[in-house]
Amino acid sequence: MEKIKVALIGVGNCASALVQGVEHYKDARANGDIIGLSHPDFAGYHVADIEFVAAFDVTDTKVGLDLAEAIFAVPNNVMRFAKVDRTNVTVMKGPLRDGVDDNLRALVGISDAKDADVVRVLRESGAEIVINLLPGSSQEATEFYAGASLEAGCAFINGTPISIASDEKWSKRFEEKGLPLVGDDIQDQLGSTVLHRDILQLLVARGVKVDKSYQLDVGGGAESLDSHYRGRMRKRGVKSSAVAQDLPYDAPLVAGSSDYVPFLDNGRESYFYVHGRQFGGAPVVIDIRMEVTDGPNAGPILLDAIRGTKLALKREIGGALESISAYGFKKPPIPTTMHKAERMVEEFLLSKRRR
Ligand SMILES: NC(=O)c1ccc[n+]([C@@H]2O[C@H](COP(=O)([O-])OP(=O)(O)OC[C@H]3O[C@@H](n4cnc5c(N)ncnc54)[C@H](O)[C@@H]3O)[C@@H](O)[C@H]2O)c1
Repeated sequence: MEKIKVALIGVGNCASALVQGVEHYKDARANGDIIGLSHPDFAGYHVADIEFVAAFDVTDTKVGLDLAEAIFAVPNNVMRFAKVDRTNVTVMKGPLRDGVDDNLRALVGISDAKDADVVRVLRESGAEIVINLLPGSSQEATEFYAGASLEAGCAFINGTPISIASDEKWSKRFEEKGLPLVGDDIQDQLGSTVLHRDILQLLVARGVKVDKSYQLDVGGGAESLDSHYRGRMRKRGVKSSAVAQDLPYDAPLVAGSSDYVPFLDNGRESYFYVHGRQFGGAPVVIDIRMEVTDGPNAGPILLDAIRGTKLALKREIGGALESISAYGFKKPPIPTTMHKAERMVEEFLLSKRRR
């Protein structure tokens, strides 16, 4: 099977889990005893078909290292679950733009290496798909890399909450170039958004009227620091709208990342509250706490998104991929319920749906 050549933008916790995941699941078989991986094969490709061919970062702890070492360099604090052999991909210095703000600078130093010519590196590496895993508030830097992907002829998957796939202007530019575009903002395998959406769906299906609900979370990764200081309102908007998709009526809903707790490392703790009314108006109150690890939570979604994007490349489909985006991302071009998103993907895989 031909390889799927992927370039990483940002070698943080999420990228670390993704690179480790490709190694960890490289021999996974559909009927085997697999923990945590929904699809060993997806869109006609196995996890092992994914190959990392280029990587960019800006910190002095990561630039210049082999990708296999950089994924464990500070401030990354994601768990180690795979031994990754030397990749022969050296992390290149990308243009900083607004990638690191003053709060993040307390954790990292910026490399004084010369900025790489990103378009040239992408072209020479043979990258087909660029995955953007920059800090969530990096608007300018994200737009820079989306533009570089277009110029280099690569598909673009946007893991950040910055509007790219959900922005018509960007979607049109990728369509004109015949390149797939996927995003925005990864929806974790079992993250707070999915659990919140599922709880609300269950209540609606059981005839309970949801009066109000919130979900708040705290984490200790660099991304939690970024979303606490710079991206709080953006993240709250994206998460609250994602959850609202599964409620067929308006109700007060708040979902957001609310603090940075360094000792949690890459852990994330989420608190859910729902108040509703059931038969005869009797009150229902749900109070739940969930603990997960951030980086690995994005892994299976990114693995599926990469393989779905490769299928779109093969089918020569340009512009926003509505199905894969709705299935794996919180802010897709066409927001819909989780069930509909899964159906959209099935239809896309069977060629019954173009995007
Ligand atoms: N489960 C998840 O981890 C999850 C879920 C949803 C969304 N996301 C999104 O994925 C993105 C990555 O999350 P993360 O936890 O890996 O973040 P992170 O902070 O650990 O990693 C970001 C990386 O980008 C690098 N960087 C900063 N500016 C750069 C630039 N200009 N060029 C190249 N690299 C640069 C940083 O040095 C860092 O290594 C975030 O936008 C986050 O919101 C992650």
